[in-house]
Amino acid sequence: MSSTHHPAGPQQAAIGALLRWMRMAGIDGATGNAPRDRFAETQAEAQRRQAAAPRPPAAAAQPAHPASGALPPVAGARAIERPAAPPAASTPEWPSIGSGIAADDARERARTAQSLAELRDAYAAFEGCALKATARTLVFGNGAENAELMLIGEAPGREEDTAGEPFVGRSGQLLNRMLAAIGLERDAVRVTNVIAWRPPGNRAPTPAETEMCLPFVLRQIELVQPKVIVCLGSPSAKAILSSNDGIMRMRGRWTDLTLPGLATPLRATAMLHPAYLLRQPAQKRLAWRDLLAVQSALGLSSHVGKAT
Ligand code: URA
Repeated sequence: MSSTHHPAGPQQAAIGALLRWMRMAGIDGATGNAPRDRFAETQAEAQRRQAAAPRPPAAAAQPAHPASGALPPVAGARAIERPAAPPAASTPEWPSIGSGIAADDARERARTAQSLAELRDAYAAFEGCALKATARTLVFGNGAENAELMLIGEAPGREEDTAGEPFVGRSGQLLNRMLAAIGLERDAVRVTNVIAWRPPGNRAPTPAETEMCLPFVLRQIELVQPKVIVCLGSPSAKAILSSNDGIMRMRGRWTDLTLPGLATPLRATAMLHPAYLLRQPAQKRLAWRDLLAVQSALGLSSHVGKAT
């Protein structure tokens, strides 16, 4: 710690140094008024799960994941490997980027939710993603429950974490103007993120965090059943569209998204993230082109103003 003289005394200097260190570590907001012992909580949770876990028979069948549409295995995922079981050919399955107890739990909770309200409750009760411990709120999604257009971002930022709603900060305001430019009210559109908890300090979510949250956003797509899906930015496009291509290759391209709970595939594409457009305004011309394609896919009239 620095020995620099602090005008208000050594205690204030120490507190100041601690706050600077926390800020550098990405801790830029309080999640509660009282301190919490996360180590004790994690230990208690592990004991509770162990006590509650059924003892599976040695050859218990595991869900089979289809080869098509499945995301590739991700390095660093904290999944607990289990022996592969023979595929149950008749059971459609969630695309998955990993396996393990928490991932199975996420898929099961998401799959059994029959409404958006149930899905939100199931997500809120899920303990398998570490981001829950540092976020203030679950940012589940907002907008029309039967929207024709669904937009999917990466993860909430600071303002979203505070408000409990997706895309309310500066990028959300740009997003609203982009929607208005093709004649869409924000409330008529379903807006959500791949991950519902803010990563501390807005760091990129880890593959394991994405893996745990993916079933919930896929189920949200199934329940909303929009006509068109637009992934905002590269992480969303990679997770939802199961691709390793960069966003500049993926934007403007259309694909059919197939999920087990959808009667028919959905038209899906990717666009540049509004936060990127705020940093690189010259790229708005690409976004405008993509917005026009979305407008056309929705069958909307093209007599509306240009994006700002
Ligand atoms: N960026 C995102 O990807 N999602 C939000 O909700 C806000 C900013």
